[in-house]
Amino acid sequence: MSDLILVIDEGTTSTRAMLFAPDGKCLATEAAELTQHYPEAGRVEHDAAEIWDKTLAVSRTVVERAGGADKIAAIGITNQRETVVFWDRGTGEPLAPAIVWQDRRTAAICRDLKEAGNEPAVQAKTGLLLDPYFSGSKIGWAMRNWPQLREAGDRLAIGTIESWLIWKLTGGLHITDATNASRTALMAIGSGHWDDGLIELFGAPGAALPEIVDCAGSFGVTTLFGAPIAICGIAGDQQSATIGQSCLAPGETKATFGTGAFVLTQAGATPPVSRNRLLSTIAWQLGGRRAYALEGSVFVAGSLIQWLRDALALIGTAQETEALARSVPDNGGVYCVPALSGLGAPWWEADARGAISGLSFSTGRAHIVRAALESMAHQAHDLKTAFAADGVDWKLLRIDGGMVANDWMAQDLADMLDVSVERPKFAETTALGAAMLAGVGSGLFRDLNEAAVMRGAVETFEPAIPDERRDARLAGWRHAVASVIESA
Ligand code: G3P
Repeated sequence: MSDLILVIDEGTTSTRAMLFAPDGKCLATEAAELTQHYPEAGRVEHDAAEIWDKTLAVSRTVVERAGGADKIAAIGITNQRETVVFWDRGTGEPLAPAIVWQDRRTAAICRDLKEAGNEPAVQAKTGLLLDPYFSGSKIGWAMRNWPQLREAGDRLAIGTIESWLIWKLTGGLHITDATNASRTALMAIGSGHWDDGLIELFGAPGAALPEIVDCAGSFGVTTLFGAPIAICGIAGDQQSATIGQSCLAPGETKATFGTGAFVLTQAGATPPVSRNRLLSTIAWQLGGRRAYALEGSVFVAGSLIQWLRDALALIGTAQETEALARSVPDNGGVYCVPALSGLGAPWWEADARGAISGLSFSTGRAHIVRAALESMAHQAHDLKTAFAADGVDWKLLRIDGGMVANDWMAQDLADMLDVSVERPKFAETTALGAAMLAGVGSGLFRDLNEAAVMRGAVETFEPAIPDERRDARLAGWRHAVASVIESA
């Protein structure tokens, strides 16, 4: 009987394949690290060929562990959003490096467009702001600076990561789903279509873009695993985690602490309008109908811990951070503003750079590590304030992502945000959301509500510090973040 679901979760730092049973049990996982290329300050690139090769390899391993492709009912795909891939339709090979979502090379282009007064119209159509984060300016830059893309003419295909993977899996189907399309700044999120005005504004070649489809359905078949398997679920990773956390009713909120940290509140059938520099985005599209979310995007979360480990050698493993944070009674006056690739919501300072402040001779390694972990709750608190100003009060925050295995950090989030924080026992909610979509698309479930049985037990962290302690820490954070913004 074929009722298993293969999920491909292609993130910023690794690509994974996972196998799910219809009750949500994860039966197998295989992952491969991805090379990060930093050709110069502010630039981040991936090799799309490496992404494909490693994705195929981990998927093949998991299909074998399933007992063969005939045991698999459907594939769900979820991915790092905004990252753009350029390839040749004839050869199926990349024509240039993939420009990653963290890449800031288009900061000046976005600034110029903003100074020319374009931001209100862009925000009204896309729900996004003028920031290098989104794909549109990256595509425009690539078309101007990489002649091979212009020379490719009609053979040029452009897409975000899920489009690239689907093209390779199916041997030439060029589609994207509405959640990923909504992050390009080229789609009018109310209409579900590419927008000619935005395509022209950013200088993107409209003919190279994929067709926008739903998040669940039967989208194409891959024959690369020995027997045909249909691709039935597609969503950007943050939208997928929103679904995996079962944030299916308006007001329900999740925060994922992966490479970056992304908070999404489900907003129902009408696109929310932020007056506080949050994003309005598509949460999912099913049967042509869209649900929306309000999003706060923080660029640096788990990548900060990786940097402490790999660039500073302050820690040997990410797991050490919990014991180090507990080993000191407080941060000793040290604050870390992790603006290593600019600041995202609600500040949107592309040129801001990181800072560790308040150092003295009594500062030890544990204080710096604790300050780094504390910056997660501080950044989340800035978002909570912006969400509240937009009329959205978090009653409960559902957390997930690699970082939240750290109990100290989960408690610190509850303490600093002053809300209950809920952590699922199975923390891979991004993959789970894609499995739920694939389950709906393949007919295993009638709808997302029925698919929500896949989400298992949760544990809860309650706020447990006095207001004075929280206020004092937040005052220190505000001071630190203001200095970073001033010097940007
Ligand atoms: O918008 C960027 C986001 O999709 C990246 O996600 O999981 O790689 O932190 P992640």
